[in-house]
Amino acid sequence: MLVSNKTLQKKARKGKYAVGAFNVYDMESVQSVVRAAELEKSPAIIATTEGAIKYAGHEFIAELIRLAAKKSKINYSLHLDHGQDMDIIRNCIKLGYTSVMIDASHHPFEENIRITKAVVGMAHRKGISVEAELGTIGGVEDAIKTRKILLTDPQDAKEFVEKTGCDTLAVAIGTSHGAYKFTKRSKLAIDRLIQICKVVDVPLVLHGASAIPTRIVRKAKLFGAVLGNAKGVANNDVQLAIRNGISKVNIDSDLRLTFDAAIRETLKTHPEIFDPRKILGPARDAMTETVRQKMRLFGSSGKANK
Ligand code: G3H
Ligand code: 13P
Ligand code: ZN
Repeated sequence: MLVSNKTLQKKARKGKYAVGAFNVYDMESVQSVVRAAELEKSPAIIATTEGAIKYAGHEFIAELIRLAAKKSKINYSLHLDHGQDMDIIRNCIKLGYTSVMIDASHHPFEENIRITKAVVGMAHRKGISVEAELGTIGGVEDAIKTRKILLTDPQDAKEFVEKTGCDTLAVAIGTSHGAYKFTKRSKLAIDRLIQICKVVDVPLVLHGASAIPTRIVRKAKLFGAVLGNAKGVANNDVQLAIRNGISKVNIDSDLRLTFDAAIRETLKTHPEIFDPRKILGPARDAMTETVRQKMRLFGSSGKANK
């Protein structure tokens, strides 16, 4: 069944765990998240970026997720990640998304408020929850250029939530998107998170939370990947953030790396294989395992429908 992020995160906050938001692009990634959720009996947020929507086709990917959720007993949210294009946001609302993110964080404060408020008005009429972002989360993605990390200011966050009416808020506490987040061990601004939590009463979101596990990076490199000194957020730090108020944790890079390493391994060790199912199948299984590990780490395993 599909429910909103607000519903999932409110429960998570009460239960002191976080729901994972997993980025999907195709049938394999959608099935990995749903299979993991069923095996772990965990809720999950299934997220599509504008890039994924352009890649798969909006109706196609939305239908795929809606069908997978309909056939499952678990509660999911169908969520737009880092929405910036109003036409795409409108289309999400038409296609049955239960949550949208408006990312206007690169605009000045007042402009971010104006844009977010407009999306809240549109979405709330249809019962869809809205995630907004304040502060900057660094990193390189399709649509988001590298930005200097600017931590979220607690008083600004309070004012922002009051003025926009957003349901959940993505905060910048030192993470960034992609595989190169830190040069040494990760360090999150937990003090800042505690201060934000004291004055803001909507559920909070952590973006850029992939761990970039050494084991998977090594395996990908072994089978030919070119990755520099990739470093992510340590598992302990993610759990510390959850203990201090985060109730949604976004994961994309770890799924990409898992998929990449598995495909490289298959192609390198079985050069005779040319059946896509035999190439993509093991990658789908590997991705399912990574999602399961995240659910256990976030404490959401066993929390479906509770
Ligand atoms: O923040 C989300 C992803 O890590 C970036 O995804 O390359 O599909 O924009 P994208
Ligand atoms: P990662 O690049 O750390 O997986 O972050 C994903 C994310 O924040 C998606 O919105
Ligand atoms: Zn993000």
